Amino acid sequence: MQRREFLSSALTLAAANLAPRAARAADSLVEILINEPIGEVAAELYGHFTEHIGGVVYDGIWVGKDSKIPNVGGIRKALVDHMRQLKAPVVRWPGGCFADSYNWHDGIGPRAERPVRTNFWANEPQLWNAPDGPQKYEPNSFGTPEFLRFCRLCGSKPYLAANVRSLTPMDFDQWVEYCNSPAGSTSLAAKRAADGSQEPFNVTYWGIGNESWGCGGDFRPDDYAVEFRRFTSWVPEYGLKLKFIGSGPGAAIDDPQVEWTRGFFEGLTVKGKRMLDRLYGLSMHYYCWTAGKGQAIDFTPDDWYQLLWQADVMESLITKHWLAMGEFDKEHTVKLVVDEWGAWHRGPATDSRYLFSYVPTMRDALVTGITLDIFNRHAEKLAMCNVAQLVNNIHTLFLAQGDHFAATPVFHVFDMYKAHQSGQALRFVSDAPTISYGLGKTLWGLAGSASLHTNNTLVVTVVNPHTTDERTAQVALRGASAQSCRATVLTSADIHARNNFESPHVVEPVEQRANVSGSSFAWTFKPASVTRLEISLA
Ligand code: AHR
Repeated sequence: MQRREFLSSALTLAAANLAPRAARAADSLVEILINEPIGEVAAELYGHFTEHIGGVVYDGIWVGKDSKIPNVGGIRKALVDHMRQLKAPVVRWPGGCFADSYNWHDGIGPRAERPVRTNFWANEPQLWNAPDGPQKYEPNSFGTPEFLRFCRLCGSKPYLAANVRSLTPMDFDQWVEYCNSPAGSTSLAAKRAADGSQEPFNVTYWGIGNESWGCGGDFRPDDYAVEFRRFTSWVPEYGLKLKFIGSGPGAAIDDPQVEWTRGFFEGLTVKGKRMLDRLYGLSMHYYCWTAGKGQAIDFTPDDWYQLLWQADVMESLITKHWLAMGEFDKEHTVKLVVDEWGAWHRGPATDSRYLFSYVPTMRDALVTGITLDIFNRHAEKLAMCNVAQLVNNIHTLFLAQGDHFAATPVFHVFDMYKAHQSGQALRFVSDAPTISYGLGKTLWGLAGSASLHTNNTLVVTVVNPHTTDERTAQVALRGASAQSCRATVLTSADIHARNNFESPHVVEPVEQRANVSGSSFAWTFKPASVTRLEISLA
C-alpha cells in the first residue's frame, strides 16, 4: 500500500473511531514513528548570529559599562537573561559580510585606545541620511574579549568568522593564539589576560570567511578551496580539535548554488580525500523574502502563505546540497551548517540607523516553527544552524533600543522548541487538507517534527499555517503510548499580531489543557499556530 493510501485509510478509520468521543471528526493525521530514529538534534541547531550591522551590537548587545540600562560589564542584562532562558547553545560573530572587512587586532586592548574604522555596511542607502554613529563608524568598543565574555555570560559556545578577503592566514593563526594559547604562554595570551581573561577561551568553531562567492572576496569555488586549504593549514591547536567551517552557498529558490558546493568540494579534494578531515561543516545561507508589498507588518493572507511556502524551500535546499556533498564525501563526514537563515522583509525599519530592523509578527513565528521543524527532520545532516540575527535585525528574537526591550514571537518559538535540543529526532509524517492560495499555488496543511528524550519524554511540534481554519488530527504514536501531556500553543486571531515596546506581551505562548493518553489520540491545532506537545510515555 502506498504511504498516502495508508494515511487516508488510517484517517477514515480514525475519524470513525473518534466519532462517539470527540465533538469534531479528524480531518488530518499526524504519525510519529518511534522506531525510526533520524539522528541526534544537536543543541547547536538552535544557534544565533550577531554581526556589526545596524543595531545588533551597539545598543542591542553592548550598552557600555556606564549606561543606566541594566548591564553586566557593558552587556545588556535583559538580553543575557533571555539567552540563558533559551539555553542558547552557540553564537556566531562578527559577521556576516562585516567579518571579511574586520581586523580583530582593532578590537582588543584598552577600549579608549582602539581605532575607529569605517563599517562594512556604511554604504547602504538606508544609512545615507542617518546620523553618524557606530553603524557607520565602528568604534571597536565591542571586540573579541567582549564577545567572548557575552558568550560566557549566556552559557553559549562562540563561533568566530575569520577574515579571508582582507587579512592573511598569519592574522588568523594569531587570532586563534589570542583566544586559545595557554595562560602565561605567549604575548597574545598576556594581552588576553590584560583584557580580562587569564585563562584561554578555547574557541573551537571557526568559519573560514563568509559568503566567499560575494562580499567575502568574489571567489570562484576552486579559488576559495585554495584559500580554505591555506587558512586551515597548520593552525595552532593547543590540544583542541578545531572545527573549521567552509564558506558555502548563498542558496536562493531560483538559484540554489549547488555548483558552488560541488566546485568547492572538488577543489578541496584535488589534494586528496584527507582534506575532508579539515572541513567540519559547510555553511549554507538561505533567507526567505517578502514579496509584493514587502512589508513586515502589513500583508495579505496570500502574502502570508507565500512567505511560509518560501520558508519551506529550506528542506529541498538542505537535501540538494547534502546530495552534492555526498558525491565527494560518501561517508558524509562533513555536515551542513545553516549559519544564516530567516525571513528578510523590506521595511519598515524600527530605526533609520538600524539596517534591516523589522518588527516580527505571527507570520515570522510560523516561519521559525517551519524552519526548526525542518532542521529536526534533517538532524543527521546538520551540525549547526544560526538564525539571522539575534537582536534588532532581520529575523530578530529581540527588539532593544535604549532602555526599551521586548521579546518577539520568534523568541517565543525558540523558547518552545528548545525542548528538542539533544533529543533523538524521529520520523514524523502528516497528512492534512492542502491549502490553495494565490494563482494556483499550494501549501501543505500541517507539518512538524518529533524528538525522543532520555527521560522518556516525546516532544512534538506542529505548525498549522491556515489563517482561519483549525485542524483536528488523529495523532498516532507508532511504537509507544502516551501517559500524560503538556501542551503549549502560540497563536493569535490576528495574523499581524506582534510585540513591541508599548505592548510587549501581545503574542505569548499559553498552556493548553491536554487530556491525552494511549497510542492514538485526537488533537485540534488552532489556526495560524505553533504547538508543542510534551508527552510522557508509558
Ligand atoms: O545577515 C545580513 C547579511 O546577509 C550578512 O552579513 C551576509 O552574510 C548575508 O548576505
